[in-house]
Amino acid sequence: MKNLFILGNWKSNKTMTEAANWLEIFSKNMPQIPGHVSVIVCPGFIHLPLFSSRTAPFALGVQNVSAYETGAFTGEIAASMVANTVSYAMIGHSERRKHLGETDEVVAEKVKRVLSVGIRPVVCVSDVAQAEKLAASVPEFTKTGLILYEPLFAIGSGKSDSPENANIAAGSIHGILPETPILYGGSVTAENVRGFVGTEHITGVGVGGASLDAAKFLSLISAAL
Ligand code: PGA
Repeated sequence: MKNLFILGNWKSNKTMTEAANWLEIFSKNMPQIPGHVSVIVCPGFIHLPLFSSRTAPFALGVQNVSAYETGAFTGEIAASMVANTVSYAMIGHSERRKHLGETDEVVAEKVKRVLSVGIRPVVCVSDVAQAEKLAASVPEFTKTGLILYEPLFAIGSGKSDSPENANIAAGSIHGILPETPILYGGSVTAENVRGFVGTEHITGVGVGGASLDAAKFLSLISAAL
């Protein structure tokens, strides 16, 4: 049975109280997760202490790390600072590429930092060219990395790509990175998730909006299993 990754990306959302409420509902109601399925939650950095005390069986990730090591980089969070706390780090989300000027070069630096401390990078790409550049600049990415393919029009729009189109794009990325699990992201919901995870090249989903409500995210997970 092929592996399945379901990653929730909270983006820049939730107070401490809201996060605690979410975690309580989610932990109480989480369904039995088969061994081939990985549920990954990526809350904001401020929520990591709360999430570290979780008892429910899901993995923890961050949405970004610094391109630098520890040191005089005010406001940054280095990969090594979270290495004992999280298993995954999202890198290069299109919102960061667009609003924070994150280039393919910066993405490559961050991926190297993450790999050097044993965290699995989940590199977000919105086209095949971005995956190509990554493969060329960080060949060691293929050992443990994941790709989250998110076409720009589908992010937060309520208009997901079709599973057929997404599978074609994932197939092209597999042409470059044959061993790498490829997730689809962009307006994934409980209603459409099965279509994506049932395709040949897509091994999971990245979920933004629909991960913010614990009950909705739980329905999505159940629908994907
Ligand atoms: P969305 O976001 O599910 O709200 O479209 C996905 C993402 O940007 O990771």
